Amino acid sequence: MDTNHIHVIFGASGDLAKRKLIPALYSLYVQNLMPEKFLIVGAARTDISNDGFRELMGESIKKFYRYDDFSKLNEFLKHLFYEKIQYDDINSYQNLSDKLNKFRVDKEINGNSIFYLSTPPSLYDVIPLNLALVGLNNESDGWKRLIIEKPFGYDLYSALKLKEMLLRNWKEEQIFRIDHYLGKETVQNLLVTRFSNGIFEPLWNRNYIHHIEVTSAEKIGVENRGGYYDNIGALRDMIQNHLLQVVGLIAMEPPSSLEPIFIRNEILKVFQSLHPIKIEEVPFVSVRGQYISSYVNDEYVKGYREENNISPESKTETYAALKFYIDNWRWGGVPFYVRTGKRLPTQVTEVVIHFKPTPHFLFSRKNIYEACNKLIIRIQPDEGMLLEIGIKTPGQGFEVQNIDLDFRYSELRNQRIPEAYERLLYDTINGDNTLFARTEEVIAAWKFLTPIIEAWKNNPDIPLYGYPAGTWGPLEANKLFEDKNITWHYPCRNLSDNNSYCEL
Ligand code: NDP
Ligand code: BG6
Repeated sequence: MDTNHIHVIFGASGDLAKRKLIPALYSLYVQNLMPEKFLIVGAARTDISNDGFRELMGESIKKFYRYDDFSKLNEFLKHLFYEKIQYDDINSYQNLSDKLNKFRVDKEINGNSIFYLSTPPSLYDVIPLNLALVGLNNESDGWKRLIIEKPFGYDLYSALKLKEMLLRNWKEEQIFRIDHYLGKETVQNLLVTRFSNGIFEPLWNRNYIHHIEVTSAEKIGVENRGGYYDNIGALRDMIQNHLLQVVGLIAMEPPSSLEPIFIRNEILKVFQSLHPIKIEEVPFVSVRGQYISSYVNDEYVKGYREENNISPESKTETYAALKFYIDNWRWGGVPFYVRTGKRLPTQVTEVVIHFKPTPHFLFSRKNIYEACNKLIIRIQPDEGMLLEIGIKTPGQGFEVQNIDLDFRYSELRNQRIPEAYERLLYDTINGDNTLFARTEEVIAAWKFLTPIIEAWKNNPDIPLYGYPAGTWGPLEANKLFEDKNITWHYPCRNLSDNNSYCEL
């Protein structure tokens, strides 16, 4: 397949482009994974010259590219151009189209193009429509792909409307809905762990699993993204997409092959089997919170309502925790607990599979939590896996203690873990949409969350708990567990510090 192409990044003056996209493209270039001929055209309203754009992106690469290899930087920057546009002005798109045609002739690249929407979600309908109006969706001279960032819509209704609008002008195969969690090496490893090891499959079901936890904690607050975040909140920002995708990979049936369609179909089936939550159940299966000011390591940390571009009366949640079930034979009756939050003690994303305890306690165990074997799949940081098992404490009698069998990616010699965006951009260039969400998945995820969104919006009796910055969120989130001996797993930043005191 011809992968030479022009890559247009809308919103190229923004945070995502400079922190993730351009460094990821540079990384592909350094590894000789970019095609022989390519151009990157930044498109946004800010007035920047080609040289100014190259300078800005050069600085970003120096700051955000994780490795110390800048030998190809100047050569890479020659591929970058900038076009000032107005997102809602059709003339801008006509000019862009003319410019792309000129580049194509000059550089001998055919019509292959990627259009990356790295803008606020409010532009996800305007830009694709205008591109189509000037014919930039037309594949007669080469493939055309549209990458759309999350969140895809704001709720079920807006997602359906966006879907309909996009599909009027673009084919489903042309649309790449990015969820960067799917690009993470350790998220993909969920597939490999489950389906390349015969030992897990017999245990991976309601007969042996007590409950499953998925946590994505962030130490940072909302930073400079208040304008976006205050309209979105933790449920839409993280659970609707990233964390439900992780649940999909944990809960899916084995696909019959690695073809994208087979994998995506299995994940869709999981989303369609999520047990619907009734609006009156929402207070019992969900907890929301918002960070309040606090001192962390003796330093004052602002509360959410004191952050830039946040209303002092904001009711937006920065923490969300849910309990839910999956209605199928494998998972019937197994609770899934999912939580995410900003300004928690540390940055960590992990899955914890809690296996059922032995049917009869031969040895004394403090409680059921201690007696459950745990498999911890650490997505980030200190990526790896850990199995907690009980062993005999040396000495008299039969005291049992839990120890960890662990593997950490850092132990693999000469293996670099690619950034999620590297993998996803590489796949887009190569037309592989395995790791991109399909419309039906996005719609099914919104459908499942709609009662929670509505109840949180309309029922003032559902509390928004304040939690001090630097803590693990509202204590009320522990009430989601029926057994009071069971709590969330409180992870340390380093996997090897599991169950010990850790510096956060
Ligand atoms: P920014 O707020 O930095 O916006 C990107 C660019 O969009 C801006 O530089 C601006 O460029 C343009 N823009 C157009 N209209 C507006 C507007 N009304 N307000 C602000 N900017 C506008 O966003 P990010 O780069 O952080 O994110 C882009 C998309 O990527 C979002 O949808 C976000 O959800 C998603 N995302 C971001 C991540 C991140 O780490 N930043 C991570 C994962 C997803 P100009 O004014 O020059 O036109
Ligand atoms: C983004 C969210 O999609 O994911 C951010 O918009 C969040 O709020 C980020 O910080 C987390 O990504 P990662 O890769 O750092 O876990």
